Amino acid sequence: MTSPLSLAEKLARTHDLSGSELHTLIADRTDETRAYLQQQAGAVREQIYGSRVFIRGLIEFTNYCKNNCYYCGIRRGNDKAERYRLTEDDILACCAEGHALGFRTFVLQGGEDPFFTDEKLVSIVRAIRQGYPDSAITLSLGEHSEQSYRALFEAGADRYLLRHETATKAHYARLHPPEMDFDRRMTCLEQLKAIGYQVGCGFMIGSPGQTVDDLVRDLRFIKTFRPHMVGIGPFLSHQDTPFRDQPNGTAELTLYLLSILRLLLPEVLLPATTALGTAAGDGRERGILAGANVVMPNLSPVSVRKKYLLYDKKICTGEESAQCIGCLTRRMASVGCTLAVDRGDSLLH
Ligand code: 5AD
Ligand code: FES
Repeated sequence: MTSPLSLAEKLARTHDLSGSELHTLIADRTDETRAYLQQQAGAVREQIYGSRVFIRGLIEFTNYCKNNCYYCGIRRGNDKAERYRLTEDDILACCAEGHALGFRTFVLQGGEDPFFTDEKLVSIVRAIRQGYPDSAITLSLGEHSEQSYRALFEAGADRYLLRHETATKAHYARLHPPEMDFDRRMTCLEQLKAIGYQVGCGFMIGSPGQTVDDLVRDLRFIKTFRPHMVGIGPFLSHQDTPFRDQPNGTAELTLYLLSILRLLLPEVLLPATTALGTAAGDGRERGILAGANVVMPNLSPVSVRKKYLLYDKKICTGEESAQCIGCLTRRMASVGCTLAVDRGDSLLH
């Protein structure tokens, strides 16, 4: 049997591994492979992106959602969630503040909220595009029709984040109610790419029912789909969801997979996510060391932050977090990195 360390060396050399090789690399991981992959992935990040970490300003503009994913704290079935929507003016105020702080990417993220019709969304995107011609606009609004995706692209959006959540159909059905469809989600990702968006997919680590085989399928899917960005973070339970009693995913496995992803797709944009920072106090710093090169601080008004809770104990929701950029600058400096103030487009073409 091939040792996990020799597979890690092969991954670092060839930037590819078969499904069964990835299975061994994950299932039989040791401290030695962990250290080796981190060192190799960190070196690849450094070689491609230097010590610059890109920042994206996240604007969580609505926590209304028509979906009912079993894991998510803003699912429609959570009647304890205090719902809010930002107005177009609120959103533009977040952008103004963010731009002054040096942000050149704005990420509009929200639940699937029918209140925000195409017309309203197009108006918001146009206004940001007009006000901030030097900035990238990223959308993270879930599943919409191809026609809506196209209208938003034409209005000036550049990028779209839609985590595939799991590349295994049966596992998708374990995480979502029957009205949500795996194939439809995958079709959305294909459409977004075909329209010309820079696309981000991604998945949770340690979500209920996830097996090593499922993780292998996620990695193989990502290798062939070639997204510009991949967002991963540990599953963290939320007390008012059906998964309240499910164990959390670990920072350890998340970091390991970040390193594998950096080596599989050297140029990919890889965020050290808020969920990773929640699972471990120094999670985002360790994420950078493991190969990540993006952080996505919150630009939402502090007054709504405690309402956009996908999972329990989310960081950066209190008064102390008004200036995440200062906090992140220090955190990134502690691992030898600086925050980059430019659009930070993917080098993947
Ligand atoms: N724990 C971790 N991540 C979660 N997400 C949603 N709920 C949770 C949770 N409980 C992730 C999903 C979604 C993204 C916006 O946040 O992957 O796509
Ligand atoms: Fe938000 Fe540290 S990044 S408070």
